[in-house]
Order: sequence, then structure tokens, then C-alpha cells
Amino acid sequence: MARVHIGQITRALVVEGPDPSLDAALEKGGITVHRVGGSPSESELIELIHSTGSQVIFKRSRTMVTRAVIEACPTLLGIQLCCIGDDSVDKQACADHGVLVFNDPVSNARSVVELAVSHLIALARRLYETDLACRAGVWEKTNEGRYEVKGKVLGVLGLGNIGRQVARAADAMGMTIRFFDSRYAATEVGIEFGWEESQSIEDLFRKSDFVTAHLSARDANGRSNDGVLSRDVLSQLGAERGEGCPRIFLNLSRGFLHDPEDLKALIASGQIRRAAVDVFPDEPRGTEPWVNPYKDHPQVIVTPHIGASTQEAQPRIARRVARTFLRFSHYGSVRDMVFSPKIKLGLVEDGAEGKVLLGVAHSTTRGTKRAIDDAIYQSGASNLSSVHKDFEDLGVAYDLAAIDRALSEEEIRGLVENAAQITGDEQAIRSVRQISLS
Ligand SMILES: NC(=O)c1ccc[n+]([C@@H]2O[C@H](COP(=O)([O-])OP(=O)(O)OC[C@H]3O[C@@H](n4cnc5c(N)ncnc54)[C@H](O)[C@@H]3O)[C@@H](O)[C@H]2O)c1
Repeated sequence: MARVHIGQITRALVVEGPDPSLDAALEKGGITVHRVGGSPSESELIELIHSTGSQVIFKRSRTMVTRAVIEACPTLLGIQLCCIGDDSVDKQACADHGVLVFNDPVSNARSVVELAVSHLIALARRLYETDLACRAGVWEKTNEGRYEVKGKVLGVLGLGNIGRQVARAADAMGMTIRFFDSRYAATEVGIEFGWEESQSIEDLFRKSDFVTAHLSARDANGRSNDGVLSRDVLSQLGAERGEGCPRIFLNLSRGFLHDPEDLKALIASGQIRRAAVDVFPDEPRGTEPWVNPYKDHPQVIVTPHIGASTQEAQPRIARRVARTFLRFSHYGSVRDMVFSPKIKLGLVEDGAEGKVLLGVAHSTTRGTKRAIDDAIYQSGASNLSSVHKDFEDLGVAYDLAAIDRALSEEEIRGLVENAAQITGDEQAIRSVRQISLS
């Protein structure tokens, strides 16, 4: 059954404690907020959505939005992640039911960049182990295993938003930047900065003194990066840099890029001297117990996924996600959509009095878009302008049209039925939202 909603979004469920400034921003935009602490289970989440009539969930990364949640909650029209990672949401289920999913791909970058940069020098100078030794009363005044970063080669794996900023900061500290990214646009940025390009991950590892990984979950072709840093790849670190090179590895991006057992084995053999890890294959939810896989390896500095946990990042995220979602609520505009992160769709925002916006999430089955246009035409309304995007991987599309008069609920139901008839697909239209601008 298609989800049909007339007007702006008015009710939000906020879980997992995003910055409190979010609530005020949403309330100002006409959304009543129901905030609960912690990370609800599947059944608790369904119960919360039912009892509050929420149309959107604002959440961080721990609460799982499963197919069962989406199917049990027909009021839901959107999921707004207050973070980058979208692994906690069943995107296919959302696409199947016309629930749009947004994240924030930019606001926490600076915090991650600063953590990465702090590790470069701290690991190169063995600060963490030295502090432990001093606490134990050991006066170890030696230059052994301590390096300057100036003049060393930093291999940046993934030259996206974060990798690029780490590279710029390290460049400013006198490091030589080498990079590998499989995305053309990212590579162009690296070349423009005058950095050295590797043609493969292995080449990057071989030619670098330090490697910092800033990969997204998938590459530009949608291939998963699960296990992309095998023991063989990791063991190449510094292979062409001479025996005395620092051989330091950082992973502040995704826990599944490498297996902790591989990193421990390479630390034990000295092929990697030191590492910093902020992300893990199995991260605990809430207060679940957790065993640090590196607890017996003081050369590996471990932090509990705090790359973005700063006083500054959380309010910045709250501000951006509120703006993203309010634009969707008020104007049907989309940006930061996890179905295709780089897209931006919008029609009219300020100064569009009298127009009506029709946002439709529908299947990519041939003929569905035509059914929407027909329904607008047959209702006597004129389509003033429209934007459209197919998300082929998920079999869903989003169509936003500005029309000159509102469709009745009956006409909207007719649109849904017409599309089903034309395409032979009962689920051709997944959700419809009509917003009258006054
Ligand atoms: N530790 C934390 O708290 C924290 C906080 C924010 C982001 N992150 C993570 O950091 C990572 C980077 O974030 P971002 O905003 O820079 O992402 P981004 O999408 O801007 O950049 C990722 C880059 O990696 C490249 N890439 C992906 N797979 C590749 C492969 N196999 N080979 C070569 N290049 C590949 C992409 O082309 C892209 O340029 C993400 O995984 C994100 O989830 C972690």
C-alpha cells in the first residue's frame, strides 16, 4: 500500500541522544519531537512509532531500522541518520516502501581529521607507550623507534571528504602525500594538489611510511570494502621505503576493512610497527560488554569509535540534519540521500507561494513516471517543472513536480491505481507527499 501524506512532516521520533539543539531546530520548523534516551530494540521502536505517530526517525548508528520496522509502521516517510554510516538501516526495505533515508556526510569530518593527525605524531614518537612506561617508573630516554613526520610519505587510502583533509593537514606538516582512490573525481583532486598517485592499494602500501585508511563502505562501483585490507596487503606497508621506515597504520574509517587478527600478527612480526584503530568488525551496542582485540598489543592505540565524538561535531551534525530534513518536509527537496549520496534535487524553496509540490517515490518499472504525469494532466493541473532521479540499485526513483493546483486525495489514490494498472506492479507507487506552499 502506498504511503500518502498531505502537508509537511509534523512528528519526529529522536533516539540515541543526538545533540539537544536538534529538537529546537525541528520544533521551529513545525515538527513535534518525541525524544527517548538509548537505542530501542526492534519491538520497542515499533511501539514508539505507533504511540507517537512519528513520520520520521532521527537516529545515530546503533538503532536498527529493519524491514519489520518499516513494514509495521506505515506512517514512516523518512529516516534521518545523525551520522555518516547507514549500515543500521535496511535501505532496500525503505526503498520498497518509499521511505527516504538521509545522513550527514560532512559535519563530523573535521573531528575525524584531527584525530587522525594527532595519531600521526603520537605514534611516530611512541607517546602512548612512553606515557605508560613513565607511569610504571621507567625512564626510557632513547630515540629508538621515534621519528619525525616531516619528509615521510603518508599514504592516504580514499581521498574523499576526510582523506583529502587529512592529506592537506599532513602536507602542511611537511609530509609527502601519496594517495589511491578508485573514483575519478577524487583522483583529480589529488593530482590538482600535486600529490603522488598510486595505481593500486598494494602500491600505496609499498611506497608509504604511514598509511591512513579513509574508505567508504563501498567503492564507486558499489563493491563492498569488506576485507579489502587483507594480511597480504597490510604486510606490504613500507616495503619500498627501507627497513628503518616507521610503518604506521591508521584505520579510523570502517571496522571491516581489515581483520584484527591480521594486524596483530603483523605487529607481532614487526612488519607494522604501530597502529591506531577507532573502528572494529564487532562494535557493541549500548552497554553490551566488549573485548578489545588489541588489549595485549600496546603498539595498537585503540579508541571506541570516537572519531566524531567532539563537543563541536555533534551540534554541527544537529544543525545540518535539521536543515536537510526540514527542506524535505517543507519543499520535498532532497540532499544527503544515502540511496545516492552525491545527488541534490529540489525545485522551489522561498518565494513559491501558491505552488503545490508533489513528491513521489516510485518503482523504476517502465511507465510509472508516465502514470504520474498523466494523473497530473487528467486532474486539470499543470506540471510547471519537475526533477527526477532513478536509484537503479534499489529499484526506486524519486520524482518531484511543482504543479499549479493541489490534487484531491481521491485523485492521488487514482494516481496510485493508474500506475499499478499501467505497469502491472501493485507497488509501482511507494509513497506520495503533497505540499501546498502558501
Ligand atoms: N571514526 C569515525 O567516527 C568516523 C566518523 C566519520 C566518518 N567515518 C568513516 O570514514 C570513512 C570516510 O568518510 P568520508 O566522509 O571521507 O567518505 P567519502 O565517501 O567522502 O570518501 C571515501 C573515499 O573512498 C574511496 N574508496 C572507496 N572504496 C575504495 C576502494 N576500494 N579503493 C579506492 N578508493 C575507494 C571513494 O571513492 C571515496 O573517494 C567512511 O567510511 C566513514 O564512515 C568514521
